Amino acid sequence: MPLDERAVVISNTCVARDTYEIELLAPVIASEGKPGQFVHAHVAPTSAPLLRRPFSIYDADPLSGKVWLLYRVRGLGTGMMACLRPGDEMDMMGPLGRGFTLPGCEHPCPALGASVLVGGGVGIAPLVYLARSLVKAGASPVVLYGASSQEDLAARGRLSDTGAPYHAATLDGSAGFRGTVVDLLESRMWSASPRRKSPGRLERSAAASPPSFIYTCGPEQMMATVAAYAQARGTPGEASLEAHMACGVGACLGCARKLKPSAHGEIGYAKICRDGPVFPLDAVEFDAAGGEEARP
Ligand SMILES: Cc1cc2nc3c(=O)[nH]c(=O)nc-3n(C[C@H](O)[C@H](O)[C@H](O)COP(=O)(O)OP(=O)(O)OC[C@H]3O[C@@H](n4cnc5c(N)ncnc54)[C@H](O)[C@@H]3O)c2cc1C
Ligand code: FES
Repeated sequence: MPLDERAVVISNTCVARDTYEIELLAPVIASEGKPGQFVHAHVAPTSAPLLRRPFSIYDADPLSGKVWLLYRVRGLGTGMMACLRPGDEMDMMGPLGRGFTLPGCEHPCPALGASVLVGGGVGIAPLVYLARSLVKAGASPVVLYGASSQEDLAARGRLSDTGAPYHAATLDGSAGFRGTVVDLLESRMWSASPRRKSPGRLERSAAASPPSFIYTCGPEQMMATVAAYAQARGTPGEASLEAHMACGVGACLGCARKLKPSAHGEIGYAKICRDGPVFPLDAVEFDAAGGEEARP
């Protein structure tokens, strides 16, 4: 049963180009929310926009009751959200959806070993809370974080605080590896060594043998390439998908998405809000040409 919580804004700060981090007091969502789940937020105290907007749980602290969201300003809703000030309230439904699989929690279960988290743009949002939770569970994840330029690397501060090493890739080479985050994944120039917690000098590393499990979130095209990489190596993984949403709870069919045919040749449809947003990498029919411009 989805919860409805009146979250109170603590801060709302521009952390990168067109990108904001909002800190909220929302004790129920903070204690119930799992990595990969999302909140469906009524972003303004006005009747417009009428529909709620979905945002991944970027970080959460059950002890203080705080929840953080990372969002890019795209249109009406996120534009109004950027105007929220400390003390304002935001009605949030959540936590919603199926989150990422954590080691030891479910079956099939990613090993505690070398999982790699591949995030592009604001697609890094659910991977930050995931990285923190994996480290807490005793795993050794590595985060690969791609953006156009260093001005877009909004999550660097919060990532360094998760305890997971991370490496940045920028298209213009202004920070970290020059190229896409998938180029970085394929380059093997990253390491799971716990000593390397920041995107400094990259070195070819024997530790960077193919990962045991891949989690990804970002633009559709990026996830399509990650899925092809995983398939070629037989590596299991999960992807967090995006869709325009209306109800957010599986009632309106607004977020239906085609999955790959099953072993019996049947083509299935999934509701991203309720059956996802996280799906096994090998179940998703990605649109390598781009599809929805998800979380660029
Ligand atoms: C499960 C889930 C988690 C998400 N998590 C985050 C997050 O952590 N941070 C974040 O910045 N965004 C996230 N998004 C996307 C976010 O919900 C949209 O950017 C937001 O709803 C846009 O609202 P708006 O009113 O500003 O834009 P609108 O005025 O509604 O639209 C502006 C433009 O953005 C496009 N657009 C809007 N929503 C989407 C969408 N879902 N997919 C593709 N294109 C869209 C529209 O087609 C239009 O071109 C998530 C989406 C989903 C489904
Ligand atoms: S948004 Fe209504 S079914 Fe998913």
